[in-house]
Amino acid sequence: MITDVLIIGGGGAAARCAIECSNKNVIIAVKGLFGKSGCTVMAEGGYNAVLNPEDDFKKHFEDTMKGGGYINNPKLVEILVKNAPKELKNLEKFGSIFDRNDDGTIAQRPFGGQSFNRTCYSGDRTGHELMAGLMEYINKLEKVKILEDTMAIKLIVRDDRCYGALFLNMITGDIFPIYAKSTVLATGGAGQLYPITSNPVQKVGDGFAMAYNEGVELIDMEMVQFHPTGMVGTGVLVTEAVRGEGGILYNKNKERFMVNYDKDRLELSTRDVVAKAIYNEIQEGRGVNGGVYLDVSHLDDEIIEERLETTFKQFMDIGVDIRKEPMIVAPTAHHSMGGVKINEKCETNIKGLFACGEVAGGIHGANRLGGNALADTQVFGAIAGRSAEEFAEESQFNLKYIKEYANRLIMDIKEELASKMDNENNKNENKNKNNNENNADVYNVFELINSLKSIMWDYVSIVRNEEGLKKALSEINDLKNKAENVKINGVVEIQKYFELKNMITVAEIIVRCALERKESRGAHYRSDYPETKEEWKGNLVVCNDEIKFLK
Ligand code: FUM
Repeated sequence: MITDVLIIGGGGAAARCAIECSNKNVIIAVKGLFGKSGCTVMAEGGYNAVLNPEDDFKKHFEDTMKGGGYINNPKLVEILVKNAPKELKNLEKFGSIFDRNDDGTIAQRPFGGQSFNRTCYSGDRTGHELMAGLMEYINKLEKVKILEDTMAIKLIVRDDRCYGALFLNMITGDIFPIYAKSTVLATGGAGQLYPITSNPVQKVGDGFAMAYNEGVELIDMEMVQFHPTGMVGTGVLVTEAVRGEGGILYNKNKERFMVNYDKDRLELSTRDVVAKAIYNEIQEGRGVNGGVYLDVSHLDDEIIEERLETTFKQFMDIGVDIRKEPMIVAPTAHHSMGGVKINEKCETNIKGLFACGEVAGGIHGANRLGGNALADTQVFGAIAGRSAEEFAEESQFNLKYIKEYANRLIMDIKEELASKMDNENNKNENKNKNNNENNADVYNVFELINSLKSIMWDYVSIVRNEEGLKKALSEINDLKNKAENVKINGVVEIQKYFELKNMITVAEIIVRCALERKESRGAHYRSDYPETKEEWKGNLVVCNDEIKFLK
């Protein structure tokens, strides 16, 4: 297959990007189902935009920078806040419907870390509404083709120029190329590196790994956001809208503990602060069943049933009536602030390769404000679409030469997979090897993935320190060796094998950056370096195995 613009990913950023460049031939390749496998539908509470005359861009800019520990790229933040209102209007044009005030203006609720009520919403299913509008619009676009159940496994990069990607057909196991003049990564984050996450199963960090493997610069990778409120045990999101509408956090002694962590902003402090507060309460024995209480029973039933409808149903399903009793919540891995380093045009350091949405880094710094992610998908999705279209317009390439290169890559991948297949050939070969080298162990991909998640949870989550991070690094290294000896069977395990390799790559980068940053800032809390230090006000950029600190 060949196209003008190839978009890898199926969430809000991918969709917005496709709309913007839909004058060209566009393929959206989605790992899973379009609109279901992205994190957009996990951002339920809202979309931040300056709409009220009493609010202004400066305030949104300052809130975002402050929330991000002042290491966000200010140029990208300015673009975000200035374009968020325009993109909200576009969403309405595409078909998304936002809640209104009685006077017909768009309703806005308070959200964490914001100095003004600027979060626009559709009840507590804003991400779903946004996606529904975008999908409806895309369905009418003749030049946009959607390929589902299609996992990108490698970018086709030659001489610092990207020509598309190689894919796994997740149903048939076929490996095939899509050649493109412009390629846009919109693959989302890596919440699935952790056992407890709000993210869908597809979000293992494929985009980060594929980019890194081709020499793309990644920024701020140590910055992983834990959303303060997930359902205990599963991590399913309990939207920040609950606190926006007035939800209160209590510990087991019925103390409103946020008073001790941020007495001014309380439950609407930034996510890094609230997540850490809940973590502390639990660690210090004031938790309840592995979490803390989140209570809305003081709110009118009507507010709960209408503005928090999803949450209400979500808890009713497990027998908890939140109109009468509190929820129990605990932090859940939610968002990767770090990612592919982009400029104001969403360009990466590889020609013809663009990034937008959660896979792109630098916008949110050390901690993202709730409600800024949906705005980010639309603002930077549109920019990436424009840049990709422009690049596709101007660029040509020698398809024959690139095809030869891609065919060689496919052969190598097939050879690698053949050597991992759990079949008679490999069993015999393994037996011989074992006799000779006394190397008896073979491993299962699912077990290795679970081990990796445990390592990340134990040593690389809300509180980190040198000893734990070093342990994580060494255990990840062991896993890397074990991954060499996995045996796989069938297409699902082929997919998991690719995912395992990507997860190991991304986990190792996160740990190395977390070790490097010897301070605490935003979501990165080091118990051995608890202070925020002026000399660390800058970004860690990792590329080709090297980590650089940029001030
Ligand atoms: O809590 C939420 O509804 C999530 C929103 C976000 O991540 O922006």
